[in-house]
Amino acid sequence: MKAIILSGGKGTRLRPLTYTGAKQLVPVANKPILWYGIEAIAAAGITEIGIIISPETGDEVKAKTGNGDRFGAKITYILQDQPAGLAHAVKIAQPFLGDAPFVMYLGDNLVQSDLNLFLENFKAKNLDALTLLCPVSNPSAFGVAKVDAEGRVLQLVEKPKNPPSNLALVGIYLFSNIIHNAISCIKPSARGELEITDAIQYLIDQKSKVEAYKLEGWWLDTGKKDDLLEANRIILDTCLVSSVLGEVDEQSSVIGRVQIGSGTKIVNCTIRGPVTIGNNCHLENCFVGPYSSVADQVTLIDADLEHSVILQGAKVEGIHQRIVDSVIGQRAHLKVAPKRPTALRFLIGDDCQIELCN
Ligand code: TTP
Repeated sequence: MKAIILSGGKGTRLRPLTYTGAKQLVPVANKPILWYGIEAIAAAGITEIGIIISPETGDEVKAKTGNGDRFGAKITYILQDQPAGLAHAVKIAQPFLGDAPFVMYLGDNLVQSDLNLFLENFKAKNLDALTLLCPVSNPSAFGVAKVDAEGRVLQLVEKPKNPPSNLALVGIYLFSNIIHNAISCIKPSARGELEITDAIQYLIDQKSKVEAYKLEGWWLDTGKKDDLLEANRIILDTCLVSSVLGEVDEQSSVIGRVQIGSGTKIVNCTIRGPVTIGNNCHLENCFVGPYSSVADQVTLIDADLEHSVILQGAKVEGIHQRIVDSVIGQRAHLKVAPKRPTALRFLIGDDCQIELCN
């Protein structure tokens, strides 16, 4: 069994963060989203992993993730020259996959369950495709499946106007090598992509063995800001272990589960967990409330925040109105003058969203 993780794509829904970096490397609880997928695959005993990368962000993904040693796996990078669809990614990965059955994992997805149960069922039933499903309130935004009482998949539709069910396709699939033939038989969709749903539908029409399992537990597609914050909340809630490596002065109070990285200085702050703060940060006169992740080399001075994600090297100064539900990009600088400002001065990149709330 091998695995591929799709870490190319356009990432339009997470702009402007994706203008300068791969969306799969955006951290959730200070760890790149992509790494959760790699860890889940390695934990299921699969050590040969191909990662699909794009020309724009591939080098960054490679440099950050490495050859797989840190995960106990062997990673091969596979360049997809354009984001021509999920099935296109499988097509270009065929030389890596050979005839092996494989897991296909979307690099911006996070799931709670471990993969072993799905792998066991896939092998025991000798399936050609196994999809995972999760009930959602807005199925029109996803690939949607109609299944019979035995879990056999009857129909798949990509982002349907009239969904046949509320069961969305989770971004994790298991395939036998028969999928390669299905992909060679499908044509690009109206949006110009080779769709994996069309390839699976082809298998269904050929009476191949395609089944679906309902996922127990949560599933998050971190493609948008609010999903990213939700992923951050859930991971901090369920996985964060307290550890303080940096320096916390006597005026500060650290309450609940809090992680503070090495080289970080906390001066006169209240940190109320679950919160993770990276290495070499400087926090002074701040309140950092629950469900916040602060990456490495961040400076926060005279600032209050909660339920927010601050990326590497960002700087926030003089903002005592609480920052909530926010994602602040790498090296971004937010500052309010010490006196009540009479004017607002901005240098804001394309596609940024600023809300000044009363
Ligand atoms: P999507 O989130 O469906 O697509 P996208 O990354 O282009 O994002 P957006 O819709 O915001 O523009 O892709 C799911 C995952 O698959 C994601 O990790 C990117 C990856 N992907 C590829 O590697 N190659 C592709 O051709 C496509 C379409 C996606």
